[in-house]
Amino acid sequence: MPGVQADKKQPPAAPSRPAPSVHVRGLRAFYGRAERVKGIDLDLPANEVTAIIGPSGCGKSTMIRCINRLHEEIAGARSEGRVLLDSVNIYDPAVDVIAVRRAIGMVFQRPNPFPAMSIFDNVAAGPRLSGVRRERLRQRVQDALESAGLWHEVHDRLSQPALALSGGQQQRLCIARALAVEPEVILMDEPCSALDPTATLRIEELLDDLKSRVTIAIVTHNMQQAARVADRTAFLLDGELIEVGPTQEIFTTPRDRRTEDYVTGKFG
Ligand SMILES: Nc1ncnc2c1ncn2[C@@H]1O[C@H](COP(=O)(O)OP(=O)(O)O)[C@@H](O)[C@H]1O
Ligand SMILES: [Mg+2]
Repeated sequence: MPGVQADKKQPPAAPSRPAPSVHVRGLRAFYGRAERVKGIDLDLPANEVTAIIGPSGCGKSTMIRCINRLHEEIAGARSEGRVLLDSVNIYDPAVDVIAVRRAIGMVFQRPNPFPAMSIFDNVAAGPRLSGVRRERLRQRVQDALESAGLWHEVHDRLSQPALALSGGQQQRLCIARALAVEPEVILMDEPCSALDPTATLRIEELLDDLKSRVTIAIVTHNMQQAARVADRTAFLLDGELIEVGPTQEIFTTPRDRRTEDYVTGKFG
């Protein structure tokens, strides 16, 4: 995680460098006194897509917000436990939380481009903050938009308002915005739930390309989507991790009865 240990400056990562793995250990999360994530151990293997499924309210969003330290921004919210990025605990007091969020990007349920900004400025915002110079900025923006599968649709109107884009394009813009700071891990919280099937497919196709560069976790309530995109799937229920394994196994031969009941639609 470049920049996280302030004293160890590393050269920029080569594109072929494997992404880190993430190891969640003994994670508990609270809102006030209510414990909503109850001691989760979960690995996100490097360069894989891990889907997180489970009924509404089971703690999926809360858990992934803990993976890039966004949970603690909510008033009255706190967490316990460790989240290791390779071997660095992102909750170590010596770790810079801004560097954590640069290394571990997030895409939310509803596309949320910066409303007053152009397409270009949305993607450039992060790199500008981290000091990327003007002469390199344009290329960085183009690379991110290409990786997000949006460049061909917007290259001739980069100065138009981001909100002029369709919902699906806005979500890919948000993915480009996340990619522009060159994260190592991307967390996606139901990124397609506000999109139509065509726009959803575009995002699903992207994940396959992106995982050669980043480690991905995607929360989804759509089990077909998990089956299509995820190498591994984790099933959460009432703040606990019930089962995690290769996606195929979770859907066809789960070990836990509760997983089976959920994936076969007995409750939801
Ligand atoms: N900001 C919050 N304040 C208090 N409780 C919250 C907050 N956000 C979520 N919760 C509660 O935490 C539990 C888990 O919510 P969440 O992580 O959003 O679940 P999921 O993403 O699986 O639907 C729910 O009981 C929800 O009501
Ligand atoms: Mg949620």
